[in-house]
Amino acid sequence: MRTLLLDAHAEPEAALELAAAILRGGGTVAFPTETVYGLGALGLDPAALERIFVAKGRPHSDPLILHIADAAWLRDLAREVTPTAERLTAAFWPGPLTVVLPKQAHVPDAATAGLPSVAVRMPRHPVALSLLRRVGAPLAAPSANLFTRPSPTTAAHVLEDLEGRIDAVLDAGPTEVGVESTVVDLRGPTPVLLRPGGVPRQALERVLGESLLDRADAPEGDPLPSPGLLERHYSPRAEVCLYSGAPEAVAAAVKQSMAQLENTQRAAVLAYTEDLPLLQSISARVVLLGPRSYPETAAQALFAALRELDAHGTQVIYASTVPGEGLAEALNDRLRRAAGGRITLV
Ligand code: TXA
Ligand code: MG
Repeated sequence: MRTLLLDAHAEPEAALELAAAILRGGGTVAFPTETVYGLGALGLDPAALERIFVAKGRPHSDPLILHIADAAWLRDLAREVTPTAERLTAAFWPGPLTVVLPKQAHVPDAATAGLPSVAVRMPRHPVALSLLRRVGAPLAAPSANLFTRPSPTTAAHVLEDLEGRIDAVLDAGPTEVGVESTVVDLRGPTPVLLRPGGVPRQALERVLGESLLDRADAPEGDPLPSPGLLERHYSPRAEVCLYSGAPEAVAAAVKQSMAQLENTQRAAVLAYTEDLPLLQSISARVVLLGPRSYPETAAQALFAALRELDAHGTQVIYASTVPGEGLAEALNDRLRRAAGGRITLV
């Protein structure tokens, strides 16, 4: 299959019309959202959904998010829209929030991995919204990467993984947020944070007036609660060594670990701007994620940095978590997954 590259900036009308026609015909089109690029297909059509799983090499046990152009479409997908769902979607849609609710009977098992619930979000990227309106139906759209690879934040990343495996990619430049949407399960009495993401926990809690439960503290739900939360996810090919601690202690630990390496040419450090003076004596490649005190920038840069280091044949990547609120939680979560769940406290 030849993958068409459609330029949503130069020729928005033609690109969007062609993309919508491919999707209406049951094909696959990667498109930009404000978080990451998604691989779209008709969300209520099992044959179209199957093409997503095949293209990504994604296991069928991993449920998809259905994307909508208008909050009014939610009622056609969710059997019950709780008052909490009303409040959160009114506050954060369009935007990087995904809500999990009981599904309507006609939502296919292929979209929900056989779960009785469905995940829905209304993205805020104008290209995504325009595409959804033209198609006129919900689109399933997981991140447009090969299964377990870092999510794509540019059309070039999409092609790196999926060229020849999907019908088209709509290019509208790099995405704004850089990490995926926040996923909350709204079926129980207290909302459960299934995946930290583009909407910070504190922003949700301010609107709710109560704390979100964490997945570990939630009462037993579905047998397969949220399989996309596999530990080894978002992984680069390199081994990621993740540290948590004061910047000076992290720098010392990185230097000590690097002293054991046979070839520091194949090592790299993901660093925050403030920490540069601490890393001066290091011979490895240093990739800047932005200021430690502004995790939004680091979140935007992270997946591209992991892909760039893979392209250089990097074997070991040193990184550290950041303290704080806002996007720090999502950033730390993606770093932890890239590290296969292992964090060294220093
Ligand atoms: O920002 C995003 O959410 C991006 C863009 C493209 O919209 N999409 C995305 O999709 O990240 P994906 O497939 O990579 O992640 C979807 C995750 C699943 O892996 C799972 O953790 C959760 O959403 N999910 C989906 N349906 C669910 C359900 N019924 N119950 C619980 N979790 C669900
Ligand atoms: Mg994904």
